[in-house]
Amino acid sequence: MNYQHHFHAGNHADVLKHLVLLQLIGLMQQKPGGFLVLDTHAGAGSYDLDAAEARRSDEASGGVGRLRAAVEQDGAVVPELIRQYLVRVAEFGRRTYPGSPLLAASSLRAQDRFLGVEMVSKVARELERNLSTLPYTEGGLGARRRMTRCDDGLRGLKADLPPIERRGLILIDPPYEQTSEREDITLALEAGLQRFSTGVFVLWYPIKQREFLDRWLRRIARLTTKPVLTIENSIVRDELGNRLTGSGLLVINPPWQFESLMQPTLTYLNQALREDEAAPATVRWLNPPA
Ligand SMILES: C[S@@+](CC[C@H](N)C(=O)[O-])C[C@H]1O[C@@H](n2cnc3c(N)ncnc32)[C@H](O)[C@@H]1O
Repeated sequence: MNYQHHFHAGNHADVLKHLVLLQLIGLMQQKPGGFLVLDTHAGAGSYDLDAAEARRSDEASGGVGRLRAAVEQDGAVVPELIRQYLVRVAEFGRRTYPGSPLLAASSLRAQDRFLGVEMVSKVARELERNLSTLPYTEGGLGARRRMTRCDDGLRGLKADLPPIERRGLILIDPPYEQTSEREDITLALEAGLQRFSTGVFVLWYPIKQREFLDRWLRRIARLTTKPVLTIENSIVRDELGNRLTGSGLLVINPPWQFESLMQPTLTYLNQALREDEAAPATVRWLNPPA
């Protein structure tokens, strides 16, 4: 495993993914019943933007850095979700970028539950340490309900579903390093949907090789009759080649209003982060709601 998220933390793809994550958690919390957040590829949970890896790649400058600069300039016209996201990120300090586990766990209530799965043992230990440093806030998630496991996260789609709460948000954020990964994800999602058809599943993907990507996304949508939506943000225009032009999230069973709430956020994000005016930002239903 070569992948190290320290090089990519806070980049444009992280920003889109974490905005979607916070929006989904907020919408799920409109109901009082607790739910599980299962982060199948959790990473370390916290990233030092002054570390050598982050400085070398400087990807955060084009992501959270660029968004912060746009917001400072635009003042009143900034969508509320973007504002909330930047406040949440700032809580961890100007030179630290929080990963999905810390952002999720610090947003959850006492009745919710977080489970982060990470395959690389050194990273899993870092994750456990970082989660344990989260301060306890009144009404927030207690330390015993923030769990980690060193394992193959795709196995969790069988082992951990359905959750006892009968409500769940499953974030699948693989590194896409292995050639078999897309097939493994498809099979794991199929098994997860069989066990927990009402779960909110969120799959992150890189945008490259457009035709191939669309074929794969349609195949995933055919695994279920439930609503499936994709949200994509590109930094440059689409290409047929293998260069990363942006990223997307496929959301199965998005909560009511998710699409309409994300639309202005996505438009703002795209204008703030794009390097090319023809870079698309889209919300598409692959399976429209009934
Ligand atoms: C893109 S990073 C995760 C970033 C994190 N979700 C976030 O938003 O902060 C992917 C992580 O998955 C881990 N990983 C790779 N294959 C895995 C697998 N099969 N199961 C669990 N973790 C895996 C990698 O070590 C890496 O830390």
